[in-house]
Amino acid sequence: MSGLRIAVFASGQGSNFQALVEAASNGKIKGSIELLVSDKPQALVVQKAQSAGIPCHLFQPKDYPSREAYEQEIVEKLNNLKIDLVVLAGYMRLLTPVIVEAYAGRLINIHPSLLPAFPGKNAIGQALDYGVTLTGITVHFVDGGMDTGPIIAQRAVEVSAEDTAESLGASIHAIEQQLYPEVVSWFARGLVKLEGRKVTILAKECQENTQTAT
Ligand code: GAR
Repeated sequence: MSGLRIAVFASGQGSNFQALVEAASNGKIKGSIELLVSDKPQALVVQKAQSAGIPCHLFQPKDYPSREAYEQEIVEKLNNLKIDLVVLAGYMRLLTPVIVEAYAGRLINIHPSLLPAFPGKNAIGQALDYGVTLTGITVHFVDGGMDTGPIIAQRAVEVSAEDTAESLGASIHAIEQQLYPEVVSWFARGLVKLEGRKVTILAKECQENTQTAT
């Protein structure tokens, strides 16, 4: 298949991975998922990739002398496959400059909060503990920091008094599965422009989309 060549990195359940696979196979994303990279060979996302016939690069960080060593191996794989865009979808490891610099401007992440609020682990629990009435999701470029890169798109999700980590997590996941394929489709159409921290989406309908609250 022609179009954007995508690698997804994931460590967990793979609901975002699955949404991206479906969007690529039904033509919403003009491109193909060429590789899953996972540091958790037992994760459900790996089974999902195998069922979809997508090649996997699986590794155990403890088998390598350093983070840079396993990332160097990953970069070689990405280069060999001529990957255009690296999409982190629940990949729970901080990247080193080995990947961040090799894929600068072509490396994105989804995070379950309205950044810069609640970066890092357990963003949904952090939001509930803090008592916010509005949280959401952010898709952003990855830089060297923890969830600090330039923001591409955000969606808000209301928090009700009855919400638990499970119910809020379900609401957030449902919106992530819509927004992430949409954002990746903008990359496939060459619509995302990055200048410093400013991200511009070059089609008007997409600019409206980034601002839609649910
Ligand atoms: C998603 O909610 C994603 O936003 C989050 O992990 C989940 C993965 O779910 N990522 C982070 O928290 C990154 N800091 P999935 O495996 O079902 O796609």
